[in-house]
Amino acid sequence: MSIRKVVKYGEPSLREPSKEVHKVSQKIKVLVDDLLDTMYVQNGVGLAAPQIGENYRVFVIDVSTDKEPLNPIVFINPKIIKKSGAVISHEGCLSFPEAFTDVKRYANVMVKAMDRNGRSFVLEAKDGTLLARCIQHEFDHLNGVLFIDHVINRFEAEAELEKHNLPPIQVDKILDEPDLEPEIKKLLEEKVNQKDDKQD
Ligand code: NI
Repeated sequence: MSIRKVVKYGEPSLREPSKEVHKVSQKIKVLVDDLLDTMYVQNGVGLAAPQIGENYRVFVIDVSTDKEPLNPIVFINPKIIKKSGAVISHEGCLSFPEAFTDVKRYANVMVKAMDRNGRSFVLEAKDGTLLARCIQHEFDHLNGVLFIDHVINRFEAEAELEKHNLPPIQVDKILDEPDLEPEIKKLLEEKVNQKDDKQD
């Protein structure tokens, strides 16, 4: 087990698709343990293998709070088998130190994956919880997709990246999300209305 260096935004490997794991070998178990150690030391809620320079389809998540016992979840060869709803998610990423922005996510996801022992499991996360959003964020890393590709306000995100000395948004990578856009637009309007209410 060891703490590994986290690859920062701008490194081409973050944009590469990761390989399937054919066997949960000792090497993969060490990778899982390194991911967990590195995630905990960095106070992250999730970390994907390409972020430590290993392009395998593996990520780890722990959304437990400080008051709760640790609750690591390991995902090997994950597949998102169901997704629905939409949520505005304020996200950061260990590969983008200190930069945060609002992105579009599904509210509900069902994922199938293998755990550290190679056993298959299905996990459902609903209602736009941190777990639901985190699964999508980490899953994306395995396809070379980054949270800024789901950005809601490109200019706000751009300013945030600049503030933290990170390379600019790659405009050609911003995703078209026809499933999410109408609902996100509605959520943004509700947000504006809520603000108006408060001023009255
Ligand atoms: Ni990330």
